[in-house]
Amino acid sequence: MNKVNPLIENQFDLQAVNTYAALMTQGNGYLGVRGSFDENYTEQTRGMFVAGIYNKFSSNDVTEIVNLPDLVGMKIEIDGEIFTLQAGEVVGYERQLDIFTGELVRKLVWKNRTGHRFQFHFQRFVSKADLHTIASKVSITALDTPASLALKTGIDAQQSNFGKQHLIEENVRVMEKRIMHATYRTSESNLQVALATFCKVTQDSVPVFVSKNRQLTATYSQHLEVNQPFVLEKISAVYTSNDVGVDEADAASIQSVERNGSAGYDQLLNQSAAKWKMFWDNKRVKISSSYEMDQLALDFSIYHMEIMTPAHDERLSIGAKGLTGEGYKGHVFWDTELFIAPFHLHTVPEVAKKLLTYRYLHIEEAKYKSAKNGYEGTLFPWESALTGHEETPEYAAINISTGKRQKVASADAEHHIVADIAFAVVQYYYSTLDEAFMQNEGIVLLKETALFWISRAANEGGRLSIKDVIGPDEYTEHIDNNAYTNYMAAFNVQQAVFFLDKYNQKDLTFDQRAKVFLQNLYMPRPNEEGILPQDDTFLTKPEIDLTKYKMKQGSQVILLDYSRAEINEMQILKQADVVMLLYLMPNLFPAEIVKKNLQYYEEHTIHDSSLSKAIHAIVAARCGEQDNAYRFFQEACLIDLGSNPKSSDEGIHAASLGANWLTAIFGFANITMEQNQLAISPKMPRNWSELTFPFEWQGSTLVFTISQTELKVARKAGPEVSLRVNKKIYKVLNQIQVTL
Ligand code: BGC
Repeated sequence: MNKVNPLIENQFDLQAVNTYAALMTQGNGYLGVRGSFDENYTEQTRGMFVAGIYNKFSSNDVTEIVNLPDLVGMKIEIDGEIFTLQAGEVVGYERQLDIFTGELVRKLVWKNRTGHRFQFHFQRFVSKADLHTIASKVSITALDTPASLALKTGIDAQQSNFGKQHLIEENVRVMEKRIMHATYRTSESNLQVALATFCKVTQDSVPVFVSKNRQLTATYSQHLEVNQPFVLEKISAVYTSNDVGVDEADAASIQSVERNGSAGYDQLLNQSAAKWKMFWDNKRVKISSSYEMDQLALDFSIYHMEIMTPAHDERLSIGAKGLTGEGYKGHVFWDTELFIAPFHLHTVPEVAKKLLTYRYLHIEEAKYKSAKNGYEGTLFPWESALTGHEETPEYAAINISTGKRQKVASADAEHHIVADIAFAVVQYYYSTLDEAFMQNEGIVLLKETALFWISRAANEGGRLSIKDVIGPDEYTEHIDNNAYTNYMAAFNVQQAVFFLDKYNQKDLTFDQRAKVFLQNLYMPRPNEEGILPQDDTFLTKPEIDLTKYKMKQGSQVILLDYSRAEINEMQILKQADVVMLLYLMPNLFPAEIVKKNLQYYEEHTIHDSSLSKAIHAIVAARCGEQDNAYRFFQEACLIDLGSNPKSSDEGIHAASLGANWLTAIFGFANITMEQNQLAISPKMPRNWSELTFPFEWQGSTLVFTISQTELKVARKAGPEVSLRVNKKIYKVLNQIQVTL
């Protein structure tokens, strides 16, 4: 991997083919296309995903995001020899994903087995101007001697989800000897996917079309003269019955390639790149750091958050791997509300609202799950997809040490997601003051989630406990009174009471039950050493030296030495738990308690979850531990961009990318929000000379510029803002400048 910029690959490396494919994914929230090579390699996992297209392969499976037929692959033969970088010689090579234009470009010179050189130039993008369009362009030039070229490309429905085939071929045809078109239906969810593609070549080669074995292809044969490039442009469209009416996807896809085919690659790219420019002009976080990777990591994080978010459709949310791979089956977790949505909330609040609306639209399914478990209100699924029902697989992969399948307990017990959603609703309200949303959808979400907690608590001689849960730390299962869960649940219920009252929707029975809950819920307190117990028994469990596991964090190697049951009986954390609470509720405890807990729990945390490091960075920054915070941040940035990114093959780590943005804004800039009061108290890393970022707050667009000694806040639009800088309140009318 290129050490300076991991988004530039300057040597072909088969080992890294799938990591790069995930990192270099292109997309627009509707569509994600992995950055796999045009030519085939057996190790390569191609991927094209449309947000919301899920299917269940068999009744024993949970639903998964469907890996759709491929539109970017090509088979190229020169003088009868198949073009592959595994044979012949690669003389010059560079591949780069330009996140500022959205284009993936690969340039190389290849010497075939007879020693003749050919220049290849591959380009590809997924349009930001038209959600349904993918375009690619390949230019091939013989440099030494004339040669014969055969290029085959089309629609390849041999793709599957690691072997599971979700699509039934309904219709495959070539229209007017130009447009290849195919329609598929998902086998269980009955969704229609229509693909159309059209190729344009510079020379007058006549394609031969073939439909065979789920592949519809056009082969272009061409005599190559020296230095006369053969150029093929391929313009494709993807529509589904989710976005246009049933049976309209066909016509829509064909019309789209008709229209875009005449525009051509360059014009379409310009339109898309113009949208990207607008995006970056408004959303970039700029860092002047002595370490180049900091800026790159933030850019990479923001790029991916943009392409993973189905901002076009409130019926959809964000998968834990975005649209970059099959990992976590495209399911939606708490990752969305707490790790990714804040970026949208403070750049385009409308998008954050849509993500909450996704939950609102699934209140009935959440009520169903709650009732099935004997509770009231809404128990949102730990893993969700299109229908809003629980989609967590029953069993995880086999533990190769014990040979047994471990039951996944999250669906049964990881209930904090209910309060996480409520927390995001409240954050949304205070950040936007969107009364209409709060009065209608927000209040229902708050009340139903609160009802869940009220019915979930167990009365133990007057004291209420929340028993048998899993907190954020998934290495500690089935425990009672997880501090994170109890504090978040109490917040959830308090806010429901407050907003019902605010909107005159007070329900006396609910109010009474909420009061009893809030008065009697057991709220763990820091012990004599100042440590807040993660749950009722955590601090009584034995400790072990975690050094060896921390060195391999992210890979869960501890499971090779201990069973989950054994880990459960020790003080071992997978990820931030108490520290996550301290991040979300910075004023819960005095600073010295926060500091002590950060240190204590970090020592016991392996950071095997990618959701962990950056949260530690934020809390450390707020504690004034800048060096520690910066180290955590840098390590978090390497989760996907490091030289050996774990599990990135199956997709990037969406929440961890979101958390990189959170660290810059809520850690180093140290923005906090106490209901209506926006506050900032910068804690910049020593080697950052400047940090600039846009921030939407209650209808105003602010731009913060922070140096080691000064803070500037400019109001670009919207009403005047009240801002607390350290301890003093300022009114931001046009611009303020404060010495730090
Ligand atoms: C983490 C969860 C997270 C999920 C999806 C798990 O490994 O423990 O907190 O929601 O991954 O990213």
